[in-house]
Amino acid sequence: MTGRVEIFEVGPRDGLQNEAREISVAQKIAFVDCLSRAGFSRIEVASFVSRKWVPQMAGSAEVLAGITRAPGVRYAALAPNMRGYDEARAAGADEIAIFASASEGFSKANINATVGESIERFKPILKAARHIDLPVRGYISCVTDCPFDGPTAPARVADLADTLFSLGCYEISLGDTIGQATPDSIVKMLLAVRDRVPVGRLAGHYHDTAGRALANIDASLSLGVRVFDAAAGGLGGCPYAPGASGNVATEAVAAHLERLGYDTGLDMAVLEEAASMARALREA
Ligand code: HMG
Ligand code: MG
Repeated sequence: MTGRVEIFEVGPRDGLQNEAREISVAQKIAFVDCLSRAGFSRIEVASFVSRKWVPQMAGSAEVLAGITRAPGVRYAALAPNMRGYDEARAAGADEIAIFASASEGFSKANINATVGESIERFKPILKAARHIDLPVRGYISCVTDCPFDGPTAPARVADLADTLFSLGCYEISLGDTIGQATPDSIVKMLLAVRDRVPVGRLAGHYHDTAGRALANIDASLSLGVRVFDAAAGGLGGCPYAPGASGNVATEAVAAHLERLGYDTGLDMAVLEEAASMARALREA
């Protein structure tokens, strides 16, 4: 295999948001600054959500203010509503991520809204962002399995991906939130989504709870997906998805892709440094 595969680093957001112990803004900044030297084009570093819901992300504006921005890197932030969007903009985020769920149970647990209500909340964000040419990425959670509702029908994911893409998201990141997907369920889901959104605008966001993330990445590669989200050190999970420990580790994905012959553009030595930092943050 040849060609470029991009890893979108989400460790400072999806990785750290689930950590119960307090991680200082200075530690987060040092982690991001290390990642900035590794060769990523996009790093998710912040989340402008309710601090009651996700206390760990409370210092997001300070993180964005304190990092040393590397040329060519876009620093992304999550926003669940207009308030989050305004705060992310004011803090200087280079791109915004909105996040919806393919299942009602997770939508309610994560953002206290139905899927339909969440789309209504995202519309003004997409409109405002379009006005100033700010890229917006759309996440879909529970693309194969939901911790509350069970298996997710591929058609639901395809409908939602189509909606988010039509509303202006430049890329749709497909989340196996609880790491229960299999290559088979990923293929079924991707075949449905690929019919509605160009595969070049899709990303795989696979948690590694059951140890199948790399196999799910392989299945996605075979269908043409060339962007994968991962977190250095395998940090993470979602506080509102029971059992959703561990994003797939960036260093494992990068090594796997390089073994397959793909180019990730990443500096493996710097990546290992970032992974050690991430592990130390978890263990300290
Ligand atoms: P709510 O309680 O329904 O709404 O929360 P609310 O309007 O009553 O707000 C509650 C409090 O939050 C209020 O404060 C608001 O002012 C405040 P109070 O008056 O009680 O002091 N608030 C905010 N504060 C800061 N920033 C904001 C904001 N909005 C309201 N933007 C809400 C609704 C959406 C706010 C809440 O449910 C929430 O913040 N949820 C976020 C949960 C979250 O961050 N989950 C993790 C990210 S998603 C994920 O990890 C999955 C992903 O990785 C993909 C995958 O793996 O599947 C992306
Ligand atoms: Mg996630």
